[in-house]
Amino acid sequence: MCQDCKKKFYITTPIYYPSGNMHIGHTYTTVAADTMTRFKRLTGYDAYFLTGTDEHGQKIEMKAAEAGVTHKEYVDKIVANTKDLWKLMNIQYDDFIRTTDERHEKIVQKIFRQFYEQGDIYKASYEGQYCTPCESFWTASQLVEKDGVKVCPDCGRPTELVTEESYFFRMSKYQDWLIEYIESHPDFIQPASRANEMINNFLKPGLQDLCVSRTSFKWGVPVDFDPKHVVYVWIDALTNYITALGYGTENDELMKKYWPANVHLVGKEIVRFHTIYWPIMLHALGLELPKQVFAHGWLLFGNDKMSKSKGNVQYAQPIVDRYGCDALRYYLMREMPFGSDGNYTNEAFLTRMNADLANDLGNLVSRTVAMMEKYFDGIVPAWKNDAADEALDTPLREHCAALPSLVEEQMDKLQYSQALAEIWKVIGECNKYIDLTQPWILGKDPEKKDRLGNVLLMLAECIRYVAVLIYPFMPTTPERIFQQLGVTDETLKTWESLKCFGSLPDGIKVCKGEALFPRIDIKKELEVLSPAADKADKKEEKQQKKEEKKADKQEKKQEKKHEEPEYPAEINIDTFFQSKIQVGRVLECTNVPKSKKLLQFRLSFGKDGERTILSGIAQYYPNPEELVGRQIVAITNLKPRLMMGIESHGMILSAVDGNDNLRLVSVGEGVEDGAIVG
Ligand code: MSP
Repeated sequence: MCQDCKKKFYITTPIYYPSGNMHIGHTYTTVAADTMTRFKRLTGYDAYFLTGTDEHGQKIEMKAAEAGVTHKEYVDKIVANTKDLWKLMNIQYDDFIRTTDERHEKIVQKIFRQFYEQGDIYKASYEGQYCTPCESFWTASQLVEKDGVKVCPDCGRPTELVTEESYFFRMSKYQDWLIEYIESHPDFIQPASRANEMINNFLKPGLQDLCVSRTSFKWGVPVDFDPKHVVYVWIDALTNYITALGYGTENDELMKKYWPANVHLVGKEIVRFHTIYWPIMLHALGLELPKQVFAHGWLLFGNDKMSKSKGNVQYAQPIVDRYGCDALRYYLMREMPFGSDGNYTNEAFLTRMNADLANDLGNLVSRTVAMMEKYFDGIVPAWKNDAADEALDTPLREHCAALPSLVEEQMDKLQYSQALAEIWKVIGECNKYIDLTQPWILGKDPEKKDRLGNVLLMLAECIRYVAVLIYPFMPTTPERIFQQLGVTDETLKTWESLKCFGSLPDGIKVCKGEALFPRIDIKKELEVLSPAADKADKKEEKQQKKEEKKADKQEKKQEKKHEEPEYPAEINIDTFFQSKIQVGRVLECTNVPKSKKLLQFRLSFGKDGERTILSGIAQYYPNPEELVGRQIVAITNLKPRLMMGIESHGMILSAVDGNDNLRLVSVGEGVEDGAIVG
């Protein structure tokens, strides 16, 4: 099909801050975008993949000053490293935009001027709190208290008071339109819990006008009609998704062809910018909105978000150098559902390598090829109808034939991990098929030669399907498999060729090669990868187990207390009023790793800020994120209590109904977050 007739697909990663080298968390987003691009191309789309770097702002200005180099020198070095890293990870982007590119800066200025001229931007005086690491503005009431200090609600670091004359964007004007848009486009923000969060936490409480220029530093795009101001980094950065396509220039074919984007992949902490400010900016420009903003979770390191500034990072390079980029890409896309958080540990990575790659996939290929060589001199035999055993052959044939659509269905939902799980189900079924058909026994009986040929052909064809389908995830492995299978015909490596099970021709010659993924000695590899970190991991694990036991014991004790309450006959009203009971809103709700019982809530108590509360109710909520946006009632002046290494600051009130369903205590509509119950 010609390029012009193909369906279009435009995907983006966030543009990364080049404040330090990119770690495995950034690699995660970029691998996800690359995998999707490859998948779309495989399935016949004309896909366009944009990534880049977000180079302006106070944070970079400070980093460059610390390093004693110019801004540009500082970012150039990191951008070069980033591009090398993407090459190492086999990332094939179509364009890499830098916010310092002239093509970008010019259009940012033009857009800013347009906003001003059409009355979306006005000038006023600003006093507020600024978080430099997040490049975010906050009002005093949005800050939260940590160790007696008011800090940024996103990252928990101190903010600074800024007083400046600034330009403001009239976000408030678009609030109702945006609520309506989000509510009538359920696919726009995914996962859906994030949409509730945006509506309940930011839009419904009232959208504030956004400060969109700064005068206190210079490292940014100057406002051309008032050059002592630079454009706020987020306005500058978000625009990259269209400046890269030539928006606002004469050379805007790409814009016409690919906009609106099909999906912006973003980390969950930057959803707000992409689903509130960006849609409003686009709407003000008269442009369509991206079809979807998908918020993925974080790769955690020891239960904390990996971050350059916290120094708890894992880089891709040492892993790729030792095990190859496909192994790491596979792990990143397989380990955690896209949208949820997950811990990165070397041990989990190595365990998956052995189980999924060396054992399941690697063994299947090597056994099949070895048997083909042993029993058929390596020549793929023809299918013999009279040697079929439909009871064994049909289920595998049908499952494998259905695999492309099962994978596509998951990929359409960006469920990378599930897509891989579907492929590995077929791999597992092939291995089971070997156990059931016992080719080594068939091989002993010359009369069973035809049956043996069918079994091996069946396996080889399934392996071909697998090789085609894993390509987007692991771009170099399929070719190694095709070499072993003797598949040289390019048409047998396409999505089209999966429409007809049984396309593998007879007569081609297989050729045993090196093991795809040799089994590794996990203990030894752990020592090599990071002996010190590993010990720390183990220590932490031990500590966690201890805490888990302790929490279990405590919880049991509490349960017992609930069963046999020993309430005093009466209490003084003052005793009751010693408990501060408040209405809170669920901002985040997740399972506590390694605990079967605990859910971790991040709750907003309006002007009293946010707090974390743990509650032993996990058994009642298999999908805890569903609670996001709900109002609950909690005691908020309980002494903080440490459970599973996390401090809980209060207790959520609930009761169990007659059908053993948990009912969270709630208040009727219209009560503000933070309101006192009593
Ligand atoms: N510059 C902004 C984005 C502007 S987009 C118009 C920014 N940059 S960042 O470098 O801090 O983060 C970029 C992306 O990397 C975010 O989506 C973020 O979630 C992702 N990750 C950074 N650390 C991560 C993990 N530990 N795990 C998963 N993703 C992580 O924000």
